[in-house]
Amino acid sequence: MIGVADGPRIGITGLGVNVPERIVTNDDLAQYVDTSDAWIQERTGIRERRMATRDEALTDIARPAVVRALADADIEASSIDLLICATVTPDMLFPTSSALLSTELGMRDAAAFDLLAGCTGFMYAIAQAYGMLSSGLSRRAVVVGGDVLSKILDWDDRSTLVVFGDGAGAVVMERVDRGGFLGFELGADGAGGIHLCYPGSGSRHFDDPGSILKMNGREVYKFATRVLVSSAEAVLAVCGRSIDEVDVYIPHQANRRIIDHAVGKLGIPVERTVVNVDRYGNTSSGSIPLALADARTGGLLQDGALVLMTGMGAGLTWGSALLEWTGTSADAEVLGKEQRGAV
Ligand code: ACO
Repeated sequence: MIGVADGPRIGITGLGVNVPERIVTNDDLAQYVDTSDAWIQERTGIRERRMATRDEALTDIARPAVVRALADADIEASSIDLLICATVTPDMLFPTSSALLSTELGMRDAAAFDLLAGCTGFMYAIAQAYGMLSSGLSRRAVVVGGDVLSKILDWDDRSTLVVFGDGAGAVVMERVDRGGFLGFELGADGAGGIHLCYPGSGSRHFDDPGSILKMNGREVYKFATRVLVSSAEAVLAVCGRSIDEVDVYIPHQANRRIIDHAVGKLGIPVERTVVNVDRYGNTSSGSIPLALADARTGGLLQDGALVLMTGMGAGLTWGSALLEWTGTSADAEVLGKEQRGAV
């Protein structure tokens, strides 16, 4: 699916993130599998990741992210009429994590559902929210993306154990006067699904399901390097924009080498690219919003900045969005203080 967002302007007006407190270093993982800090850093760029404790589930990680996004937008939870939670590691399959979150946070009038599209979940969810907002069905939405993949990792498999981490991020989406989302490109290829799967997690019977994630790293690597480039180019083309116009590039944070490859092929300056895989590893549905928050902290998200985001993951799936940043309520407050200070 590809299209220009030429309906009413819909933007991000609040942003919040949260990661578990527990930091797990490469050396920590070397106690479980035959690996080393040097190998992990050289092959993935990851130095450390966050991991939930035994008692922390997805909603425990996602809830603070949503609360922070609402505060950033300076709005009450009760004004939200749509909550989409993108995750592959909900607290349980049902009740959905979105239903639990909406009730806990007091979103009394919100439709709430979970969306499952692997690490591309956040991209699919913002496109879904865009559609419901631009049609007028929803007036104010929250999209939260998050995963606690540490819960489904094989602690004997060194090729998967070292690449994933836990985290979540949330955005408030609503109508804005100008800018906002300009276009989306989303895709799926079930034929490649076998390369990144969680057998035994659904209704298909497996003789040896295990309750662990399985990945063919080399195949996923090839797929990831290909779609990061093709999806970004597709959304830019449909929106009639060029890579030179992109101020902030936010690729899915899976592996530093994959990001470097995309940066080189797309020809975008590395200083416009957000990289935080070194601190968080691959947080799946949390990856894009966590990087968006780091872009803001790093001063890249100025009013009017053109932001290119691309996610990819299990399915296999991929998705890109082009967004003109219009700022949040908290951004406006900071800007106001700066302007008042300048007078
Ligand atoms: N420590 C030491 N050695 C390791 C480790 C490790 N942690 N992991 C694998 N190796 C070994 C392998 O066993 C292999 O040894 P062999 O040659 O004796 O068989 C050797 O290193 C090379 O293996 P490769 O798989 O070729 O290693 P590669 O450089 O490709 O790195 C990695 C593996 C990091 C998993 C890489 O393939 C990758 O990043 N793939 C993409 C993963 C990804 O992006 N997944 C998520 C996307 S979707 C989503 O987000 C859910």
